[in-house]
Amino acid sequence: MEKKIILTAKQIHKSYFMAQNQELKVLENINLEINKGEIVSVIGESGVGKSTLLHVIGTLDRPTKGQLFLNNTEVFSMDDEEMDSFRNITVGFIFQFHHLLPEFTALENAAMPGLIARRNIKEVYSRAEELLFEIGLKDRMRHKPSELSGGEKQRVAFARALCNDPLIVLADEPTGNLDTVNSEVLRSQMWNLVRKKNKAFVVATHSKKIAGYSDRVVEIKDRGLREIDKDLL
Ligand SMILES: Nc1ncnc2c1ncn2[C@@H]1O[C@H](COP(=O)(O)OP(=O)(O)OP(=O)(O)O)[C@@H](O)[C@H]1O
Ligand SMILES: [Mg+2]
Repeated sequence: MEKKIILTAKQIHKSYFMAQNQELKVLENINLEINKGEIVSVIGESGVGKSTLLHVIGTLDRPTKGQLFLNNTEVFSMDDEEMDSFRNITVGFIFQFHHLLPEFTALENAAMPGLIARRNIKEVYSRAEELLFEIGLKDRMRHKPSELSGGEKQRVAFARALCNDPLIVLADEPTGNLDTVNSEVLRSQMWNLVRKKNKAFVVATHSKKIAGYSDRVVEIKDRGLREIDKDLL
């Protein structure tokens, strides 16, 4: 398959500043390229900065230094408002905890990013419905989060992540709250949908098994990023 780079992170540094301006360096000089349709796992020990990296490449947080290009557009030169609307149509997220809105149905939750982007309501709902159908939740559209199982909630969150047909989907421990069997069910459903839609997908995970299903694996260690031969996992 022809390679098309859709995300380039250049010399990203990220520190957190604590009381008395004490600097906690988490990431230093990170360079990363992601191609269209590629599934990449980010591994590394707890606290190394996997979530931090996902937040930065997903534009939820700004780096201390560095650039991020999404489809050749540099993102951190935008102001916050521009970045928020750019993110909403460019990046889909799924986290360890579903973050669904409790008052809304599965369908409404899955449609939310499209409604926020003020797209045509009918089209947004029909797309959300199709995504829920594709992820096997045809019979759960009207359920509220409290009326769904853990795995089902994550599937709704995944449909929501795809609602605006984003350039890239980022997942932070998406199966972290599920038992082994349900983790694998969700994993394969996510993989199928990502492959079908030819989306780039970046997953932070503790699971070597999940990482093993990816096209590429990168590891964060000592604040840097390196490619790992996934056969050596
Ligand atoms: N908002 C914050 N302010 C200060 N320090 C933070 C903040 N968020 C994270 N950290 C610190 O930055 C480091 C990296 O955190 P991060 O959450 O990115 O790690 P992680 O690799 O995702 O870990 P885990 O596998 O446990 O989820 C940790 O040492 C953490 O304590
Ligand atoms: Mg984390």
